[in-house]
Amino acid sequence: MSSPANSLCGFLASSIGRKWIVAFTGLILVGFIAGHLTGNLLVFAGQDALNAYAAFLHNFLHGGAIWIARCVLLGSVVAHIYFTILLTRANRAAREQRYAVEVTQKASSGSKWMILSGLLILTFVIFHLLHYTVRVGAGFQDLPLDSEGHFDVYRMLILGFSNVWVSTFYVISIAMLSWHLSHGVSSMFQTLGISTPNTRQLFDRIALGFSVLTFAGYTSIPLAVLTGWVA
Ligand code: HEM
Repeated sequence: MSSPANSLCGFLASSIGRKWIVAFTGLILVGFIAGHLTGNLLVFAGQDALNAYAAFLHNFLHGGAIWIARCVLLGSVVAHIYFTILLTRANRAAREQRYAVEVTQKASSGSKWMILSGLLILTFVIFHLLHYTVRVGAGFQDLPLDSEGHFDVYRMLILGFSNVWVSTFYVISIAMLSWHLSHGVSSMFQTLGISTPNTRQLFDRIALGFSVLTFAGYTSIPLAVLTGWVA
C-alpha cells in the first residue's frame, strides 16, 4: 500500500482520527442545521418568500445541487454514527481492562446520553423526511400547487403543524437535538483544536448559545402555526 493510503488507514484506525471524523462530520451537520433554520425562518416573510427559496433549492444547478447536498449529508450522518460506534466500543473495551475506572465511568455516562439523544434525532429525521420530503400520509398531495407549479411548501408547513401531536413531536425532538448540540458542539471545538483549555469557557458558551438559538428558531415555526401567527 502506498504511504498516503497507509497514513489515512492509520489515522482512521486511531482514536484521535476517529474523534476528528466525528467532529468534522458534526461540523457539516451543524452547518446544515444553521442553514436549514435560516431558510425555514423565511416562513415569517410570507408564502412567496418561502416558496421561492424552496424552488431555488430544487432548481439550483439544474436540480444537481440538492442531490450533492443530500449525498454529503447522508455520508456525514453515516460516518458520524459509524465512527461514534467504533469509539464507544473501544471505550468499553478499555473500561473492561479497568483503566482509570472513575474517569471512564463519568465519561461513559455522558456519552450514553449522547448516543440515546442521537438515536432519537435519527428517528425524528426519518419521520421528518417522510413528512415533508417524501410527503406521505399528511394530505400534502391534495394541496394546490404554488403559482410556479411547485409544491406549496408554505401551505405544507401550515397543514403539517396544525396537527398538535405532530407539532408536539417536533418540539420534543428539537429539544433533544438542542441538548445534543450543546454537548456535541463543545466537544467538536475541542477535538478540532478550536478551543484550548484557556478558551474552553468561551467556546462552551458559544455551543450553548447555538443550541438555544436552534431550539428557539426551529420551535418558533410549529408554535407560530399553532397559535395562528403564521396562517
Ligand atoms: C420546525 C422545524 C423544521 C421545519 C419547518 C423543516 C422544514 C423542512 C421542509 C419543508 C423540508 C422539505 C423541503 C423541500 O423538499 O422543499 C425539509 C427537509 C429536510 N429537513 Fe427539515 N425542517 C425542520 C427541522 C429540521 C431539523 C431539526 C432537521 C435536522 C436535524 C431537518 C432536516 C431536514 C432534512 C435532512 C431534509 C431533507 C432535505 C432534502 O433532501 O430535500 N429539518 N425540512
